[in-house]
Amino acid sequence: MKIALTGASGFVGCNIAKTLTDRHGDDVIAERVDMTDRAAVEHHILDHKPDAVIHCAILNDWDRMWGDRRYAWECYVEASRYYTEAAQQAGIPCVVVSTDWVFDGTRGNYTEDDIPNPTNFYGFLKAATELVAIERGATIARVSGVNGPHWARPTTPRAQDPGFGYFVASIVDALEVGKRFTVWESPLINSKASPSLASMCGEVMRTALVTPHMDGKIVHCCGSESVTRRELAMQTCEVFDLDPDLLDFADPPATELEGKVFPHDTSLDASWTSRTLATPLPTVRELLEGFRHERTTGQLAHL
Ligand SMILES: NC(=O)c1ccc[n+]([C@@H]2O[C@H](COP(=O)([O-])OP(=O)(O)OC[C@H]3O[C@@H](n4cnc5c(N)ncnc54)[C@H](OP(=O)(O)O)[C@@H]3O)[C@@H](O)[C@H]2O)c1
Repeated sequence: MKIALTGASGFVGCNIAKTLTDRHGDDVIAERVDMTDRAAVEHHILDHKPDAVIHCAILNDWDRMWGDRRYAWECYVEASRYYTEAAQQAGIPCVVVSTDWVFDGTRGNYTEDDIPNPTNFYGFLKAATELVAIERGATIARVSGVNGPHWARPTTPRAQDPGFGYFVASIVDALEVGKRFTVWESPLINSKASPSLASMCGEVMRTALVTPHMDGKIVHCCGSESVTRRELAMQTCEVFDLDPDLLDFADPPATELEGKVFPHDTSLDASWTSRTLATPLPTVRELLEGFRHERTTGQLAHL
């Protein structure tokens, strides 16, 4: 297949690209087009004539997102409008990448058809994006607790943050060189989630693209289990043969919380997705073993 992919230089995007090319032999159009430029997006799709679109790019500069909300709206909601409308006009399927942070985190185990109730501006932008994309026939792929190598960069761009992104990689990077690592624990941050492997998310997205009647549907890209930050840290030590005595557990720095609200338990239930697409639901251990395999071999894990 020829697939136009946005955000291919980013963490999730580069994993999607590697899955499409290495596993499926797809032709990935990864050229960066300014997603806020409607005409450029339309021409991009018209010129390349892809068989499908995966829209994964986002503005990931949190200070800019909070400080310039009009621009953030353009980057999230309007850009998704442009890509989904271009795909609709071309008569091709489109997947738009979303997040578990569309949920409020008060309950956990959210299913694909639970109603979102975001607690912060990022979640609001993603929930608004979902609505716009669903109304234009796209499939929403919510990813959560994403792990995996960053194939497009030598190191991960961020260390630990109030979410689960880069959490495992940050622990491995520290402990394998004998450094101590403090796992943040607080009811005020994202404390429980359903881990995934980024390449596995790419596989679910591709399967959704080639499965009939997925337009307007939501899929969850994650494994079968949810974990706390402490549980994930301990399992990471087991799978990567690291010393758990190098872990400390403490509140996050106050600066991480100032003026911000984060969802507490954003664990997802992906059983409908797995039943519908016949995609696997790996355990946390299997996902971590997959990450270790990819990190050490440079090859995609088979889950
Ligand atoms: N990472 C996670 O833990 C996580 C968790 C849940 C959901 N997600 C979702 O996964 C998706 C990707 O996130 P990520 O963490 O992989 O992000 P990322 O690493 O920050 O990558 C963002 C990508 O978007 C591109 N981009 C930014 N502004 C652009 C613009 N104006 N026009 C075109 N491209 C632009 C960037 O290209 P340049 O580098 O060239 O600017 C980069 O390729 C998002 O939808 C996000 O909501 C991620």
